[in-house]
Amino acid sequence: MTSPVTSPATTAAGPADVSAPDPVPAPALTAVVDVDVPGPTISRHVYGHFAEHLGRCIYDGFWVGEDSEIENIGGIRADVVEALRAIAIPNLRWPGGCFADEYHWTDGIGPRRERPRMVNTHWGDVEENNHFGTHEFMALCELLGTEPYISGNVGSGTVKETSDWVEYLTRAGDSPMARLRGENGRQEPWNVTFFGIGNEPWGCGGNLTADQFSTLARQHATYARDHGKDRLYRVAAGGNEADYAWTEVLMKQLASGLGDPAPRDLYQAISFHYYTMSGSWMDKGSATEFTDREYWATMARAHRVGELIAGHAAVMDAYDPTKKVGLALDEWGTWWNVEPGTNPGFLHQQNTLRDALVAAVHFEAFHSHADRLRLANIAQTVNVLQSMVLTDGHRLVLTPTYHAFAMDVGHHDAAHLPVRPVGDVAQREADGRVVPTVTATASTKAGAVTVTAANLDPDAGATVELRLRGHGPLELSQASVLTAGDPREHNTAEEPERVAPVPFEGATWSGSTLRLELPPTSYVSLRLVG
Ligand code: AHR
Repeated sequence: MTSPVTSPATTAAGPADVSAPDPVPAPALTAVVDVDVPGPTISRHVYGHFAEHLGRCIYDGFWVGEDSEIENIGGIRADVVEALRAIAIPNLRWPGGCFADEYHWTDGIGPRRERPRMVNTHWGDVEENNHFGTHEFMALCELLGTEPYISGNVGSGTVKETSDWVEYLTRAGDSPMARLRGENGRQEPWNVTFFGIGNEPWGCGGNLTADQFSTLARQHATYARDHGKDRLYRVAAGGNEADYAWTEVLMKQLASGLGDPAPRDLYQAISFHYYTMSGSWMDKGSATEFTDREYWATMARAHRVGELIAGHAAVMDAYDPTKKVGLALDEWGTWWNVEPGTNPGFLHQQNTLRDALVAAVHFEAFHSHADRLRLANIAQTVNVLQSMVLTDGHRLVLTPTYHAFAMDVGHHDAAHLPVRPVGDVAQREADGRVVPTVTATASTKAGAVTVTAANLDPDAGATVELRLRGHGPLELSQASVLTAGDPREHNTAEEPERVAPVPFEGATWSGSTLRLELPPTSYVSLRLVG
């Protein structure tokens, strides 16, 4: 949402009339949406995902191996592929995360039984057999119909490793790396869309200062060459949360030495990371057992993402007013204490309706900053952190967050339609912040309008009124709602459908005003067609 188009109502309240009927509560949000004034395109890549060699994400999640009794396609779990295809995931980041900065890609090619083993020191101190490597990841991307986002190793890798990996992946014809790829069974190069230059270099990616990293970023980005028709979108690893100074250092590195005011094309985006939790990093809170106070603290912190994107974007605007360089939030999502009894290094957590609403809050912020935010990746896709699916042997569970992603597919590559509040928006205080208790966002694509709205309040329904202007007759062609009696509700292998979208009956028209009656803690998605 953008700022109100009128100031809040200031009418003084008179004495109560005891004979009057109960007043109709004011809508939690009344807003104008100008359908004929589209804003910037919401890149589908803000709905990206992340798969790290961490816990049960790759092994047991995506990869079970060709000999597994679990149905697989060349070792990749068939049910996971089927589930993720349905939410049209646009890109997948791999192999990390922190793992990326200790990953040496040549360990993950060639006959699997001959691949060297290593210790995954970041995540559980377990042995990594490298059975899932470059070829397996690219095969997964092909099965998913998704674009690869490969994270290069700057922390412990060399510039030559970066250069060779990009050549191995993308170069056609005859070259040392293209020949090696051919010897490993793949003649044709792949298309690689995104290439990450490091990960969290201020922490697990080398404990570097911004100045130290920025020199390395320039070097690695230079040698991550474009081969043939492949044009890499290089993402330089940025700061954590509100480290705007880090972003500024990286932006300064793009200034041309020759006096050209346009930023140089060394890296095309700068990232930052932001995770949501109700507690502290030492005690993040339980995924399923939380108090009302913790619920609202979570929502307050989720809302902070809009402020952070705006902060990084403001720094970038100073160096790049034409918004050539993209911002990438390439790790986001909820991070809770691990499920009791699971390996603390595996980051396995349940996923409730609260998580889906956290995602809804992020989506709205992503749309509002579509002019600068080009890429975002939720952490992580399977069995780790705020995942889409949880696997349990043969069984697979779709999480509430999965459904929130499914309900947003209409926004992919659609033009943002700013939702401009008229008057007050319902809000409350939590965690020292003022938190809107409803969100709404809209977009248009191919003549259709997609509207999504969330009511974060677990104790009360909320009315949202959208005055849609600048369009011909519109009718509702699809409406669904994700809700449950309690934000702690979640899906399990025994009860996989406790939180799943159902048809939404709470939409009515009054002229061109669309009125939505949102149940407590709910997420609604509507498609309007002309
Ligand atoms: O997503 C889990 C971890 O969080 C990633 O490996 C790291 O980049 C971040 O700290």
